[in-house]
Amino acid sequence: MSQWVKVAETAEIPPGDSKAFIVERESIAVFNVDGEYFAISNRCPHAAGPLVQGFVEKGRVVCPWHAWSFPLSPVNPPNDGVARYRARVDDGSIFLEVPVGNYGQSSIIRSM
Ligand code: FES
Repeated sequence: MSQWVKVAETAEIPPGDSKAFIVERESIAVFNVDGEYFAISNRCPHAAGPLVQGFVEKGRVVCPWHAWSFPLSPVNPPNDGVARYRARVDDGSIFLEVPVGNYGQSSIIRSM
Protein backbone atom coordinates (compact mmCIF):
# COMPACT_ATOMS: atom_id res chain seq x y z
CA MET A 1 0.00 0.00 0.00
CA SER A 2 1.31 3.43 -0.89
CA GLN A 3 0.47 7.06 -0.48
CA TRP A 4 1.34 10.31 -2.25
CA VAL A 5 3.19 12.69 0.05
CA LYS A 6 3.99 16.33 -0.65
CA VAL A 7 7.65 17.06 -0.02
CA ALA A 8 8.30 20.51 -1.49
CA GLU A 9 7.28 23.31 -3.78
CA THR A 10 8.79 23.09 -7.25
CA ALA A 11 10.57 26.42 -6.69
CA GLU A 12 12.63 24.79 -3.92
CA ILE A 13 14.35 22.47 -6.41
CA PRO A 14 15.14 24.32 -9.66
CA PRO A 15 16.46 22.48 -12.74
CA GLY A 16 19.87 20.94 -12.08
CA ASP A 17 19.36 20.98 -8.33
CA SER A 18 18.53 18.33 -5.75
CA LYS A 19 17.32 18.12 -2.19
CA ALA A 20 16.82 15.34 0.35
CA PHE A 21 13.81 14.69 2.56
CA ILE A 22 13.00 12.32 5.35
CA VAL A 23 9.74 10.57 4.53
CA GLU A 24 8.50 7.74 6.73
CA ARG A 25 12.00 7.46 8.22
CA GLU A 26 13.58 7.08 4.78
CA SER A 27 16.00 9.62 3.40
CA ILE A 28 14.96 10.32 -0.19
CA ALA A 29 16.86 12.44 -2.69
CA VAL A 30 14.80 14.41 -5.19
CA PHE A 31 16.44 15.62 -8.41
CA ASN A 32 15.16 18.11 -10.96
CA VAL A 33 16.49 17.00 -14.33
CA ASP A 34 15.49 19.54 -16.99
CA GLY A 35 12.18 20.15 -15.25
CA GLU A 36 11.38 16.49 -14.55
CA TYR A 37 11.54 15.27 -10.97
CA PHE A 38 13.07 11.96 -9.89
CA ALA A 39 13.21 10.47 -6.41
CA ILE A 40 15.68 7.85 -5.26
CA SER A 41 17.00 6.60 -1.95
CA ASN A 42 19.56 9.01 -0.54
CA ARG A 43 21.67 6.12 0.76
CA CYS A 44 24.17 4.57 -1.63
CA PRO A 45 24.21 0.77 -1.22
CA HIS A 46 28.01 0.68 -1.42
CA ALA A 47 28.96 2.61 1.72
CA ALA A 48 25.95 4.83 2.44
CA GLY A 49 27.15 7.83 0.47
CA PRO A 50 24.65 10.72 0.15
CA LEU A 51 23.31 10.38 -3.38
CA VAL A 52 21.68 13.81 -3.12
CA GLN A 53 25.18 15.26 -3.43
CA GLY A 54 25.91 13.30 -6.59
CA PHE A 55 25.77 14.67 -10.09
CA VAL A 56 23.40 13.49 -12.77
CA GLU A 57 24.66 12.26 -16.10
CA LYS A 58 22.64 10.55 -18.83
CA GLY A 59 19.74 9.79 -16.49
CA ARG A 60 21.94 8.36 -13.75
CA VAL A 61 23.08 9.81 -10.45
CA VAL A 62 26.77 9.32 -9.71
CA CYS A 63 27.58 8.81 -6.04
CA PRO A 64 29.90 11.53 -4.73
CA TRP A 65 32.01 9.10 -2.72
CA HIS A 66 33.21 6.35 -5.09
CA ALA A 67 31.36 7.09 -8.33
CA TRP A 68 28.97 4.16 -8.46
CA SER A 69 26.00 5.26 -10.55
CA PHE A 70 22.32 4.47 -10.48
CA PRO A 71 19.52 5.11 -12.96
CA LEU A 72 17.03 7.63 -11.63
CA SER A 73 13.94 6.37 -13.43
CA PRO A 74 11.47 4.36 -11.37
CA VAL A 75 10.45 2.46 -14.52
CA ASN A 76 11.96 -1.04 -14.63
CA PRO A 77 14.73 -0.24 -12.14
CA PRO A 78 17.62 -2.69 -11.79
CA ASN A 79 17.88 -4.84 -8.69
CA ASP A 80 20.66 -2.73 -7.19
CA GLY A 81 19.39 -2.18 -3.68
CA VAL A 82 18.33 1.41 -4.33
CA ALA A 83 14.67 2.35 -3.95
CA ARG A 84 13.09 4.63 -6.53
CA TYR A 85 9.87 6.53 -5.99
CA ARG A 86 7.42 7.90 -8.51
CA ALA A 87 7.17 11.69 -8.44
CA ARG A 88 4.52 14.02 -9.78
CA VAL A 89 3.87 17.75 -9.76
CA ASP A 90 0.48 19.11 -8.84
CA ASP A 91 -0.26 22.84 -8.62
CA GLY A 92 3.39 23.75 -8.01
CA SER A 93 4.03 21.05 -5.43
CA ILE A 94 6.15 17.90 -5.68
CA PHE A 95 4.57 14.67 -4.48
CA LEU A 96 6.28 11.31 -4.01
CA GLU A 97 4.61 7.92 -3.93
CA VAL A 98 5.94 6.14 -0.85
CA PRO A 99 4.92 3.02 1.03
CA VAL A 100 2.61 3.58 3.97
CA GLY A 101 4.77 3.23 7.04
CA ASN A 102 4.26 2.90 10.73
CA TYR A 103 2.78 6.36 10.87
CA GLY A 104 0.07 5.76 8.28
CA GLN A 105 -1.12 9.01 6.78
CA SER A 106 0.76 11.18 9.29
CA SER A 107 4.07 11.09 7.44
CA ILE A 108 7.11 12.79 8.84
CA ILE A 109 8.76 15.08 6.33
CA ARG A 110 11.89 17.04 7.03
CA SER A 111 14.10 18.55 4.38
CA MET A 112 17.81 18.07 4.74
S1 FES B 1 29.39 5.14 -1.08
FE1 FES B 1 28.52 5.39 -3.05
S2 FES B 1 29.97 4.53 -4.39
FE2 FES B 1 30.80 4.22 -2.42
